[in-house]
Amino acid sequence: MCLVYYLSASKLYLKMNKSVSGFSKLKKSEKIEWLLQHYLFNSKSAKKIITQYWNSNEKLQQLHDEFIENTITNYYLPLGIAPNFLINNKLYAIPMAIEESSVVAAASKAAKFWLERGGFKTEVISTTKIGQVHFMYHGDFKTLNTFFNTIKPKLISDAKPITKNMDKRGGGILNIELRNKTDSIDGYYQLHASFETLDAMGANFINSCLEQFAKTFKTEAEKQLDSTIEIVMSILSNYVPDCLVKAEVNCKIEDLADLNINAKEFAHKFIQAVNIAKVEPYRAVTHNKGIMNGIDAVVLATGNDFRAVEAGIHAYASKNGTYTSLTHAEIKNDRFKFWIEIPLALGTVGGLTKLHPLVNLSSELLGKPNSKELMQIVAVAGLAQNFAALRSLTTTGIQEGHMKMHLMNILNQFNASENEKKQIITHFKTNTVTHSAVVDKLEKLRN
Ligand code: HMG
Repeated sequence: MCLVYYLSASKLYLKMNKSVSGFSKLKKSEKIEWLLQHYLFNSKSAKKIITQYWNSNEKLQQLHDEFIENTITNYYLPLGIAPNFLINNKLYAIPMAIEESSVVAAASKAAKFWLERGGFKTEVISTTKIGQVHFMYHGDFKTLNTFFNTIKPKLISDAKPITKNMDKRGGGILNIELRNKTDSIDGYYQLHASFETLDAMGANFINSCLEQFAKTFKTEAEKQLDSTIEIVMSILSNYVPDCLVKAEVNCKIEDLADLNINAKEFAHKFIQAVNIAKVEPYRAVTHNKGIMNGIDAVVLATGNDFRAVEAGIHAYASKNGTYTSLTHAEIKNDRFKFWIEIPLALGTVGGLTKLHPLVNLSSELLGKPNSKELMQIVAVAGLAQNFAALRSLTTTGIQEGHMKMHLMNILNQFNASENEKKQIITHFKTNTVTHSAVVDKLEKLRN
């Protein structure tokens, strides 16, 4: 084996040569063999794990292989269902793809709670998406601005071959502005463009338009300006503060009561919990993480880009300079109101939406929503998740419910048999679940 020695920051590192050229050109089986040889000690069990996740339907497997590059196998996530979501008087069973226990149960519990209290009300506030051409220019700003205003109609008309279908459907380019960013970086400007992409998430559409703007802008600048323009990059923004959706629940305070809750006390404590997340970033991050449990799970199940959604939402949570809660709560005129307002750029056409059979199934489950409807469903999933978490946190504590749901994971970790599972589940119906209590019980049974 070839060994390469190199020195870094006064430490000697020993590095085995595991680099490879041409990996992408190997067949799937060859890639696996290479991995087994170089990283997995030719382990038979590693090979078994890789191959046992292949789908026996070769066409379906090929479809999955081709979603990404260098695919070796499939990585399963469970797809669960949270029923009983009443949203604007329509009932939904919401599909959720997530690995974490108690999330689907929590969403379901919140949905059931609000089903009996009028359900969720939602509203799409705006649907504008953003893209930018970043460029450098060191000449006179007035000259650049005059040039931009002259060239703006041509920027739009040169992009017509890209926008004509979107235009026909009622979307397209909304506006292009020249933005002077020289206060931040010497010579830095942007073409800041806004778009309506209707049911498409719009990344490819926006990026294609931006690259065409950059081409036209540069070509015309070379003819009309003395100073040169250097295009740095053209790319959409995943920060979409004008692609906003709001979801809300509200009821009379007394209607918050159920078996375990004193309504007034609960409402008061719940609002305190939200207010803490508003002012305390350490808490806000966890509070919003709980919201993202719901949002990401539906975004994933419906074939959307959860990284884009996460980045955009967290940026929105810090739009005023401090990271804060995405949800809000108040009591007004004896009514409890709890709501969320978030940016969401989602697609119900394009991308994986038609390709992945489970994404198609999720869409069918939701009644084939358009992107505006999906924005509302996703926002509700986030709000419901936050309601469930805060309800537990301010009453029983999170561990009781979370550990109840996590019990099966602990049992599987210790290879519990069906009989052991049955006995232990019965035992923990009336006892507190902790990791050590489960292990103790299992050991007692086995002895
Ligand atoms: P429970 O009261 O023990 O549940 O709650 P239950 O057995 O009385 O059942 C009531 C309903 O809950 C059920 O109605 C279901 O809707 C749902 P039913 O179906 O019987 O008509 N439910 C379930 N659904 C599916 N499978 C199940 C199941 N069990 C109950 N097995 C529960 C138990 C876990 C729901 C509750 O304790 C809860 O909501 N806890 C919150 C859990 C949570 O938030 N988990 C997220 C992970 S923790 C985290 O990452 C976020 C966090 O840090 C965020 C933050 O800090 O803000 C907490």
